[in-house]
Amino acid sequence: MKRLLTTRALCVTVLRSSNAIRWIFSADQGTGSYTKGFLSLEPNVEKCRHYEQDLPLRTFLPSHPVPLCVSAGGALPGEVWKVGVARVDVPASRLYLSPPSIQAEDELALVAAARSGWVAPAGPELDGFEDDLSAASQRRHAVALSSGTAALHLGLLALGVERGDEVLVSDLTFGATAFAVTYIGAHPVFIDVEEASWNLDPQALADTLSRRKLDGRLPAAVVAVDVFGRTCDYGRILPLCQEYGVPVLVDSAEALGATHGARAAGSLGTAAVFSFNGNKIITTSGGGALVTDDPEIARKVRHWSTQSREPCPWYEHQEVGFNYRMSNVLAALGRAQLLRLSEIVERRRAIRDRYCQGLLEIPGVVVMGDPPWGRWNGWLTTVLFDSVPLPNAATRVRQALEALNIESRPVWKPMHQQPVFEKAESVLTGMSDRIFAEGLCLPSGTAMSDGDVDRVLEVVAASLASL
Ligand SMILES: Cc1ncc(COP(=O)(O)O)c(C=O)c1O
Repeated sequence: MKRLLTTRALCVTVLRSSNAIRWIFSADQGTGSYTKGFLSLEPNVEKCRHYEQDLPLRTFLPSHPVPLCVSAGGALPGEVWKVGVARVDVPASRLYLSPPSIQAEDELALVAAARSGWVAPAGPELDGFEDDLSAASQRRHAVALSSGTAALHLGLLALGVERGDEVLVSDLTFGATAFAVTYIGAHPVFIDVEEASWNLDPQALADTLSRRKLDGRLPAAVVAVDVFGRTCDYGRILPLCQEYGVPVLVDSAEALGATHGARAAGSLGTAAVFSFNGNKIITTSGGGALVTDDPEIARKVRHWSTQSREPCPWYEHQEVGFNYRMSNVLAALGRAQLLRLSEIVERRRAIRDRYCQGLLEIPGVVVMGDPPWGRWNGWLTTVLFDSVPLPNAATRVRQALEALNIESRPVWKPMHQQPVFEKAESVLTGMSDRIFAEGLCLPSGTAMSDGDVDRVLEVVAASLASL
């Protein structure tokens, strides 16, 4: 089956031919690439005229032949064209959750780095990316690594976590946060989250630390996660951890560009971690970094990440090492992307605002925004559907979007529900369970047009109306 799932028609021209109308268009596929195609309209056309300007296509019907309803926006607000029967010759383009935004300047940076000969995990782009990251995260040191997971692993080691230790970890996160704890042979203990940011619940953390203190087994570290690009309630979390002398590793994999008051994401805690995975706010295809103000932590992490090689003419190792360093070529991409960070943040926040506007009137829908203590980076728009007025809405909406080739995703499945962690201890309030049951991540890609957002909104509104 062929489908038209374009987001917006550019330069639409309707041409008369002998017995049919041919509608030539270029379609923004929502990925930055443009696909040319055409619709052949059969003779029973009710209305047609030459049209040459941006024309948002609002209704896309998948089967063949189908009545195609085109409403013209912009210059002709509200006008609806009934244009008869359409044959659609463009394959569906998928609207992804968070595709990377790769621009010409990124390509140039990659090619220049490759041509420079610095293709290994060393070189001027790597040094430059680390300087840029230190500045962006208000930290003295940054170490660019092969992934956020690698950064978590080495960060925990640098904080002194050892085999058999316990590490308190936010329950609502991507598995990598907790996997890194297990790489060391330590045990994650999952702590539930609060409602404002979906991050570590300070009260649950306080209760756990005071109980652990009484039992004489304080955890070796706390891993606080800035989930979906919102920082944690550090005003409460950091003094607590300080009181008990427990170091904090911040998993800011998703939160580069967010803030906590005047502080940048990544600037708080003993050390923090970013990811530059393909779906993150900026990307190096795969990559991550650890940032810290502690020179010794930075030195150790850099050393371990390059196979713990000692400064000798031969390969000398006093410690076990890891091949975790970022390549100079990918760092060049990271630098080019980082230059656009604030632009990307603003676009993604605007996408969320448009979703919020479109869903405002529907009772039981909450579109997550800024937490009270900081500015969200817009990474993924997340929505909660109250299961009382809107039973099973997250699943129904996701399925309706998928039927139109639009990707949405459940929020992270809480770690305490993961089969791999079924034996792990957890401290629960029910919040992460509720967020998982009622939450949904909506497409949030930087290249999404307003028309794309409206298309998603139409599907969401229609599936909620049918509940
Ligand atoms: C919260 C969180 N932590 C850790 C990671 C791991 O980062 P990476 O994929 O770069 O290893 C990710 C994302 O992938 C993440 O979302």
